[in-house]
Parts: sequence; C-alpha cells; structure tokens
Amino acid sequence: RPARVREPSVDVGAYFDLDRGLIDRTIFSDTALYRQELRRVFAPSWLFLAHESQFSKPGDFFTTYMGEDPVIVTMGRDRKLRAFLNACRHRGMRVCRADAGATKAFTCSYHGWAYDTSGKLINVPNGEDYPAHFDQEQWGLIEVAQLDTYKGLVFATWSPEAPPLRQALGGLAWYLDAMLDRDPEGTEVVGGVHKWVLEGNWKLAAEQFASDWYHVNISHASALMVMSPTGKGPKAEIVQTPGRQYTDPLGHGHGFPTHPKSRFDDRVVHGHYDYDVLRERLGDARVEGPMTTGHGTVFPNFSYLPVNGSIRVWHPKGPDKMEVWAWTLVDRSMPDEVKDAQRVYNLRTFGPTGIFEQDDGENWSEVQATAHGFVSGSMTLNYQMGLGLQTEDGIHPGTTGHLYSDGAARGFYTRWRDLMNTPAWHEKDS
Ligand code: FES
Ligand code: FE
Repeated sequence: RPARVREPSVDVGAYFDLDRGLIDRTIFSDTALYRQELRRVFAPSWLFLAHESQFSKPGDFFTTYMGEDPVIVTMGRDRKLRAFLNACRHRGMRVCRADAGATKAFTCSYHGWAYDTSGKLINVPNGEDYPAHFDQEQWGLIEVAQLDTYKGLVFATWSPEAPPLRQALGGLAWYLDAMLDRDPEGTEVVGGVHKWVLEGNWKLAAEQFASDWYHVNISHASALMVMSPTGKGPKAEIVQTPGRQYTDPLGHGHGFPTHPKSRFDDRVVHGHYDYDVLRERLGDARVEGPMTTGHGTVFPNFSYLPVNGSIRVWHPKGPDKMEVWAWTLVDRSMPDEVKDAQRVYNLRTFGPTGIFEQDDGENWSEVQATAHGFVSGSMTLNYQMGLGLQTEDGIHPGTTGHLYSDGAARGFYTRWRDLMNTPAWHEKDS
C-alpha cells in the first residue's frame, strides 16, 4: 500500500447539539470537513457499487465511485466480482474510461500497462527497460478490502476492519427487504443508469431519504395534486397519513406511511402482486408499512424507494455538489410488461425529470446556494421534530418515531459525527 498523506482532522463535536436537535450548517459547506469526510466517513464505510444483475459473464464491468475514488467493478474469469481503484499504478491515469462493457483486460491509454479482470498487471510495454528489482506482481490494481452482496446489491469498503456487510446493514435489513425480498427469485435492474448533477451537499439528499416526510405535502403539493384521483388536491389520507420512521444506531433510516391496504401506485404493477402471498412472505407489518410508499437510506449515501423501484447513490463531488446515479429495480419474476410499467412509473416520479425528483433537487440546490455567505453558512439548523418521541412500538423492529420526525436525521448525523471524530484504520500507526 502506498504511504498516505496525513491531513489534520478536526473535532466536529462543536457543530452538534443533537440532544437538543441542533446542527451548525458549517458541516454542509466546509472544504476541510469535506476532505475529512472522504477519509473518515466514506473510506471506512460499506458503499453501494452496483447491482449483481449488471454482471452476467466474465469480463463484464461497470465503473463508478466510492466517495470520490473512481472504481471498476468487474466479474473475473472465476465469476467472482471484484472492485479496483480505477487508477493506473504507473502514473495514475484512469485505466477504464468506459461507463460499462465487457473486456478481457484493462489497458491504460497513457503508456499501455494492462491489467486482467482480477487486477493483475499482465503487460508492461518495453518491460526490458525496467530494473531487475521491478516486480510486476507488486503492481496490480489496488483492490477494495472487502466486497459483498446483499440480496443483489453489491457493496464494498476500503477498510479491512469494517464489520461484515450484513452486520453493517443492522436492523435496516428488515425494512430494506420490503423492496428486495418480495420475489423468491430476487431483483434485477432494468434500463441503464441515470446520472445527473445537483448543486447541493450529498448529505442533504441522504438525510432526507432517511428521514424527511415533513416536506412531502408542501414541496410535492402539485405532484400530489396531479396524482389525486379527483385532480382537486391530495387525498386526506395522504396529507394526514399515519406512519413511522425507523432510526438505526448505524445511521440508516426509513420513513413510511402505514395503511392497511398497501398497494403500488402504478395500476399495472399493483395488478401484478398477490397481496395475500406478500403478507405470507413478509408479514402484515411490512406490507402495511415499509412496502406502502416511503424511502430509506443505507448510511452513508445509498437510498431507495420501494414502491417506485428506485435505487440511487448520492456521489459526493465537493462540498457543494453531488452526482445522483439512479437505477430502476424490479422483481425478477415480473413479466416484461410489468417490468416496463415499473420502469416508466419510476421515471415519471423519481427519474431526473420526475415530478417528485424535480421538487427535491430544487430544494437541495437552493439550500446549498443560501449557505455561501459567512452568516448564512454558519447558522444553526433545526432538527427538533419528534425529539423524545422515539420508542419501540412492538410492530416495527428497532426504534421508530412518528412519520413526521427528524429522528432518523438525528441518527444519521450522530453516526456521521462519531465517524468524523474516530481515526479510521488508515490513520492508525501500523
Ligand atoms: Fe498508465 Fe502510464 S499511467 S501506463
Ligand atoms: Fe421528496
């Protein structure tokens, strides 16, 4: 492993008074904190890379990011998925410049070093001009420390010390399964990956998907009106909906309305499901809760919407910018026309031009734009909703609060603060 430059880290405790639900806005715009975030939040965490269904044969690859580290995910000749830093060991050129594809080897377009799909350096042009002690074996691509999958989702971490993926998902797995475990055959992604840039800090999006239902009736009022059967405004049960919000001690969260008649919004998708079978498989609490509508976040930057079939990553691109990468997830056993209906419904609501997505993006970029001043950038923000009201309700596992609560956001920032204040594995003296 190359030596790492040690940048000084700051104690972020002063930016938080979470017992009173207060957060200093500096954490969303400060450049030094952003660098620390890459080192201490992204580098040690399990991060979402791709869906297993994107790889069907040896040589299939997909390029993405872990934090701001570019990575290649690829299936080796042994059909094993591996992920490597997408940077040539010679002078750091991006080795693979395609978004996705199939290959036998990754050949660097700068001087021609070539790596096989297991990351091994297999060709060095003019190799005879290197000294005798140059050991080709030592110059393979840098591989992630751990890679694992959970019900089709591929995650990896740079930290050899991170707990196993299943453990890192904690109690959120029960909620996540409302999307991943509806079908005995599992899930797959359809269509490509939508990618778009938003002028906002990545935490604004990740936090909202973990926690914020408060904005729904206001920010999305026009969208709800369009979707209402009468066209006269959102149905009362949407505006005054009961629901719960799950807060995981590991920073994850999922908010969802509760309704005895869970149903998918899209007619075709709704018609596909036998709700009795789903109740048998997932239990009443899950079908009437997280499987209604709702959204969640796997800490730090993977979010999902079970009903819309959207899974997405909020890639950090500096303190003021994020890139959203979004896939449409469907059940494998759905007939093709149902898969297509799910895809179109997802794009209509949460695609880059979706009627809900547009509202959310507008909020985040405006929030970021008002943080650039000295005074506006360091004001205290309010996360007090639902303080003291979180409990175990005997229906939904773990700690939940009211649907309209900042509970999961407080959980998200508690985890973020703790990671920011803990030296990561790479900072420890070896
Ligand atoms: Fe890749 Fe030189 S930078 S071969
Ligand atoms: Fe929203």
